[in-house]
Amino acid sequence: MTGSPLTIDGDRLWRTLMELAEIGAYHDERTGLRGVNRLALTDADAEGRRLVIGWLREAGLDLRVDPMGNIIARRPGTDADAAPVVTGSHLDSVATAGAFDGCLGVLGGLEVVRTLDERGISTRRPIEVVVFTEEEGVRFGTDMLGSAVAAGRIPLAVAHDLIDRDGISVGAELTRTGFAGDGPARFDPPHAYVECHIEQGPVLARAGLSVGVVTGVQGISWQQVTITGRAAHAGTTPTELRADAGIAAARIVLRLREMVDCAGYGELRATVGHLAVHPDLTNIVPARAELTVDLRNPDDEQMARAEADLADYLDSLVGSGITVSTRRMARTAHVPFDARVQQVIAAAAGDHGLDQMSLLSGAGHDAQEMAAICPAAMIFVRGEYDGISHNPREYSTPEACARGIDVLATALVRLADE
Ligand code: GLV
Ligand code: MN
Ligand code: MN
Repeated sequence: MTGSPLTIDGDRLWRTLMELAEIGAYHDERTGLRGVNRLALTDADAEGRRLVIGWLREAGLDLRVDPMGNIIARRPGTDADAAPVVTGSHLDSVATAGAFDGCLGVLGGLEVVRTLDERGISTRRPIEVVVFTEEEGVRFGTDMLGSAVAAGRIPLAVAHDLIDRDGISVGAELTRTGFAGDGPARFDPPHAYVECHIEQGPVLARAGLSVGVVTGVQGISWQQVTITGRAAHAGTTPTELRADAGIAAARIVLRLREMVDCAGYGELRATVGHLAVHPDLTNIVPARAELTVDLRNPDDEQMARAEADLADYLDSLVGSGITVSTRRMARTAHVPFDARVQQVIAAAAGDHGLDQMSLLSGAGHDAQEMAAICPAAMIFVRGEYDGISHNPREYSTPEACARGIDVLATALVRLADE
């Protein structure tokens, strides 16, 4: 493979990661650690974006913000007409995050550009570093939102109309934070897309490897389930006269676990991450319960069967004063990544003297949306503590991060010289 392996400045990369992690930092009482809370399009997210925009501008990149708030920073190539090679990820976080999820991909792209400038390296194709909006989906209910609009899967107007739990819309928050950009909402197809991200799981650490080549992303199914029952006095209402929405919600939680444990749905994972009862008071039988169901499955048929069986189970709960309704939040099939881009990544890792393995992503990523419009693949970086993530304990060593971005740099330059 042509193009010498490129080594980035790991200390500088680490400093940017740590500086960004100060924005939205909070003291996490459960772990006693410092975490990051930068939900999409909040003031903290906007501040983080402004910090990174400053760095991208200092690196001499041409910046544009699209109508979805995605930030696209371009380093020109020598061939002005050539389609760019794109890298990136997200700066928004879950409410209990660490410093790495998404940030490594964006700041890694910045570090690649800084390294190329320092070494006086130009590429034939432009290289673009992109910050995608609302990758997490925890504020507005749909994950990979910015990249899904850029790739044309979700219409811009639909994305703008999504609301958070307080009824505030994406469109309104883009305007308020100053990130309602202009120009086309959809990207022209890039030449290729490569994203570096922490693994967020235990596979690389258990294999004793610092980087992995990602073969694709498993399917994701999110829905909101609302159960209505009847509010009633906790002390006086006989059990047989109750329509207890809380009990129906508890049954769903346990049913999902049974579905996972029975192994009849392949490698299904199921999570009820949000569960609220109303009116949420000690001495009142819950009149309503609301919960979210997050299903993951690498096999699309098994996923469809799990969804259908869950729907049948929800139907079976209806009656005796209980009703159940569902609202689809997000749904993506298994996305395989491009074989050739995986080869470019694997060769780059090999040229850096890194042992590697191929693995499927358990988490959703912007790369899976970009895969619809160009050849795309990802580099995973090993995490510590079994790769725990969406938790302030999330941690990847400076060395592992630097090795992942070395591989990103080498792969990007090789693709950009095609
Ligand atoms: C993104 O973090 C996801 O939920 O997979
Ligand atoms: Mn992420
Ligand atoms: Mn995440």
